[in-house]
Amino acid sequence: MSWSPSSWREFPIKQQPEYKDKETLQKVLDALKTYPPLIFAGEARRLKQEFAKVARGEAFIIQGGDCAESFAAFNADTIKNLFKLILQMSVVVAYSSGKSVVKIGRLAGQFAKPRSSDFEEKDGVKLPSYRGDIINDIAFDAKAREADPNRMIRAYFQAAATMNLLRAFSRGGLADLNQVHQWNLDFIKNHPIGQKYEEISCQIDKAMRFLKAAGLTSENTPQLRQTTVYTSHEALLLPYEEALTRLDSITNEWYNTSAHMLWIGDRTRDINGAHVEYFRGIHNPIGCKVGPSMQPDELVELVQKLNPNNEKGKLNLIVRMGAKNIDALFPPLLEAVKEAKLNVVWTIDPMHGNVEKTQDGFKTRDFENILSEVKSFFTIHKKYGTIAGGVHLEMTGEDVTECTGSASCPITVDDLSSRYHTQCDPRLNAKQALELAFMISENF
Ligand code: PEP
Ligand code: CO
Repeated sequence: MSWSPSSWREFPIKQQPEYKDKETLQKVLDALKTYPPLIFAGEARRLKQEFAKVARGEAFIIQGGDCAESFAAFNADTIKNLFKLILQMSVVVAYSSGKSVVKIGRLAGQFAKPRSSDFEEKDGVKLPSYRGDIINDIAFDAKAREADPNRMIRAYFQAAATMNLLRAFSRGGLADLNQVHQWNLDFIKNHPIGQKYEEISCQIDKAMRFLKAAGLTSENTPQLRQTTVYTSHEALLLPYEEALTRLDSITNEWYNTSAHMLWIGDRTRDINGAHVEYFRGIHNPIGCKVGPSMQPDELVELVQKLNPNNEKGKLNLIVRMGAKNIDALFPPLLEAVKEAKLNVVWTIDPMHGNVEKTQDGFKTRDFENILSEVKSFFTIHKKYGTIAGGVHLEMTGEDVTECTGSASCPITVDDLSSRYHTQCDPRLNAKQALELAFMISENF
């Protein structure tokens, strides 16, 4: 049972690109091994403690961002708007529930994508599928679709720059609770959902005025002026993840230093596969998607393998059944984990089980299904006396038209083409995400 950052190489692996140029691949990996870590082990340990609070019902996770980050859409505004949206949603949830919110971006490294097919066919031409900007290019031509190892270097530097900006936003004043009005994004400000948010902001202003009178200000109380937004991605491309896996000098334990939290996708969670082998050895808090094909005894075995010491706050199970399936498929899994007394944090990904394809060929998700799956998740936990620990969302701070429905933002199938910008799966826009946060706030 010995483990090393490269022991996954002895196991069957899925969803990997075929690199033709092995020499360049090796050069890139050798270079990445010498690059600085993007996070510190101590930060990952702190996130684990936050997860332990979630397991006790004292905190709630809001994890969100793009399905796939892209090189082309990389700019400060997009990052800033997602940051503000996460803060807004956190305020809504924290204000109503009194729980602290653990903020996690699906960003600064969310580049590699599992695909349902290895090939894509268009007008009789068959090419390798797009696998995310860290691997190949989305353009439909043979050269673009070749896996290029140099893309890992670019992804690393984009992740580093994104992380740098997040740290600046978190500590430099933007996250100050005196700035709550500033977080309201321009295109929602005058909309009913933006105004609903304004009402909470005004209450917070009053609370801040009161705290100031009592002597607590953002100058003398860091908790009022700064926050932490953790980073996460699906650790799919294992050669890249291996190169950024480092031994922590304080604890002598291995950490993946490319993000605070990593998760295993629903397509690569085979108990005897390479991804589970890699994940069992790292000490970061980790996630694992739990989709409709998961069986209760399989899940118990998987949890025991991924969290052998039954550590609290180590493992997040991210349920993604689909609105139609969750009521039937989730309770037996929850019961099995509860029965085996395994410590896990449960969150809900209401995105990946609710994908539809329109007649025009757009991948979309209906807001009603997303809402319904989240509600079921809460209801089931109430019934079993367990903790609904958070949400895992594909969302953006931009005004896109990718998911249909929602009272605040009634996008129809015909509207999808107007601002459909995603590189992969359809995301909630800021109005829809905020509306979802209000709905969550009514469910505690
Ligand atoms: C994802 O989170 O983008 C994803 C591919 O999810 P899943 O592994 O649940 O299908
Ligand atoms: Co996705």
